[in-house]
Amino acid sequence: RNNKLLDKYNRNHNYVRISLTDKCNLRCTYCMPEEGIQLTRKEELLKDTEILKIVSVLSSQLPPSTMKIRLTGGEPLLYPRLPSLLTSINTLHTPSSIGITTNAILLDKRWEDLKDLLTSVNVSLDTLDEKKFQMLTRRTGLSKVLRGIERTEGWDGKVKLNCVVMKGFNDDKEDFKQFLEFQRDMGYRFDVRFIEWMPFDGTSWGENFVSAGTMMDRIKEGMGKELEGVGSEDRNDTTKWYKLAGDEGEREGGGGRIGFITSMSDNFCATCNRIRITSDGSLKVCLFDGTEVSVRDAIRDGVGDEDLARIFRGALGEKKFKFGGAEDMQELAERVKGNRHMTAIGG
Ligand code: GTP
Ligand code: 5AD
Ligand code: SF4
Repeated sequence: RNNKLLDKYNRNHNYVRISLTDKCNLRCTYCMPEEGIQLTRKEELLKDTEILKIVSVLSSQLPPSTMKIRLTGGEPLLYPRLPSLLTSINTLHTPSSIGITTNAILLDKRWEDLKDLLTSVNVSLDTLDEKKFQMLTRRTGLSKVLRGIERTEGWDGKVKLNCVVMKGFNDDKEDFKQFLEFQRDMGYRFDVRFIEWMPFDGTSWGENFVSAGTMMDRIKEGMGKELEGVGSEDRNDTTKWYKLAGDEGEREGGGGRIGFITSMSDNFCATCNRIRITSDGSLKVCLFDGTEVSVRDAIRDGVGDEDLARIFRGALGEKKFKFGGAEDMQELAERVKGNRHMTAIGG
């Protein structure tokens, strides 16, 4: 029995991101066109039993309790059976961590049913300004999101805020300051991560990109303090972690940290441990690789566990070293044009 899921570059894939739905209750401009996307038909979506089979086969290829799982969307809180799916995953496989990445509109409402079933919640929130929130998401709801974040008080899981930084929209020193003061005022109960814009449909990437270096300069300016590096306990972390010099807050292993996801200016592909399953059951070995393998079809054709494991290994054997095979950011921006929208991949 193998106990690793290696690719050609010896990277072990012990983190699976499963998109549960391509539906979303927001319409963020960077993620979707105004009218939304053509939703996947219900019969094409994975059933819970199929998701459990995927999780079970993947985890059987790794040492017990070492697989990390993140459920994404679209918006995963729109998935009606989320608590029962989480319960099944947790009873069958004890993942090392199990999280969701959510816009948090429904977090307050669903929190009681979820809090004991998750170990990590990442909240996508790009602005704390009501007007800008509406502009970006084409919907209202900032106050619901904030209520959702408040609900996590006292929870022993990890909470991270994901803020995608876009030029001319939320890249002013005041924007950063607003987030960091919010973090402080909320008692440092979550980490804040500023994320470099990645190209998905190839259109506005060039105009929107702000590098993490620039973000750091703006933060130093806005806060009047230096940023000091803090180490990460996770060698596959996508995030480079900092704190404000002289600032206390709670930080060991989370809460109160300031992170940067430098996908473009300093990629972390060399330590990539991720594979993705789309809501219609396609395996993607890289966020940026358009090549997909339908594990759903294999399962519906009655594939056995061994053969399903072989399918995963075969696809991983084709995984490119970085950016789905593109050399640099420019080539990547060109290549991603035909790929799925973000809302169908789940980030
Ligand atoms: P943790 O499990 O908490 O480390 O979460 P995460 O950062 O892996 O996932 P999350 O869904 O919160 O995504 C945060 C940002 O990282 C988003 O912009 C994602 O698109 C991006 N991201 C996640 N995984 C990858 C990856 O493998 N490659 C790249 N380039 N970006 C990624
Ligand atoms: N670049 C970087 N991050 C993005 N996300 C969505 N679109 C992009 C993009 N173009 C983020 C969302 C969410 C995560 C899954 O991906 O904000 O937090
Ligand atoms: Fe992994 Fe692809 Fe992301 Fe690089 S771009 S970290 S190879 S998923």
